Amino acid sequence: MSFTTFKIVSFMVCVFAMVQTSISGDPDILSDFVAPPSALVNGSFFTYTGMREVIRETGSPSYFQYLRASRDEFPALDGLSVSTIFLGFRPGDVSPPHIHIRASELLLVVQGSLLVGFVDTNNQLYTSRLQTGDMFVFPKGLIHFQLNEDTQNPAYSISSLGSSSPGLTLVPNNLFNTSASIDDNVLALSFKTDVSTIQLLKQALSTPYNQVIGHPLKH
Ligand SMILES: *[C@@H]1O[C@H](CO)[C@@H](O)[C@H](O)[C@H]1NC(C)=O
Ligand SMILES: *[C@@H]1O[C@H](CO)[C@@H](O)[C@H](O)[C@H]1NC(C)=O
Repeated sequence: MSFTTFKIVSFMVCVFAMVQTSISGDPDILSDFVAPPSALVNGSFFTYTGMREVIRETGSPSYFQYLRASRDEFPALDGLSVSTIFLGFRPGDVSPPHIHIRASELLLVVQGSLLVGFVDTNNQLYTSRLQTGDMFVFPKGLIHFQLNEDTQNPAYSISSLGSSSPGLTLVPNNLFNTSASIDDNVLALSFKTDVSTIQLLKQALSTPYNQVIGHPLKH
């Protein structure tokens, strides 16, 4: 092996190592669990009761429910690489296209039916119509959605996510409802449309969806 070849191979090995270590996911912890130093830890620390009200609710939800138990709401999850999302759909409710950058999501339909789908990095769409009891997995970091197509009945699902802090990028907001607006020309050129269409989209998204999010959507 010539010195030049050796340098190229070394460089490739370094790049590969960097790619490996920059994979997005929860780091392993060196203790059984992570608790704030001053916290008195007993069973209560590992208990989360924030979903009682919605799970107790019977009949159709009165608004679109998006409840999450991640590290922010349930600190005991810190370092444990798991979290949960509970979704309650009225007839016709959609969970708009979104991304969890740090976690795959395993969804179980516990009542009703859902149209679900995700798009891979080659822009291939994978969809499924789920019945009560069916599960579907959304791979980490890929854009996905859920829709209750049923015009009469509600639908409920519970998801497990492989991160205590999965992240939520709500795609429509991420492009058209940012704190400082992305330049209209950038969006018009990117979407092969005109500035007025972009402004219509921005205007439409500046107010909340016609469905109340049961828990604040955090990014
Ligand atoms: C656990 O600790 C909390 C304080 O952090 C206390 O309020 C609670 O009563 C304790 N629970 C039990 C079962 O000991
Ligand atoms: C757009 O952002 C504003 C301000 O953060 C927020 O009040 C509104 O609900 C967002 N729109 C949507 C569709 O979520």
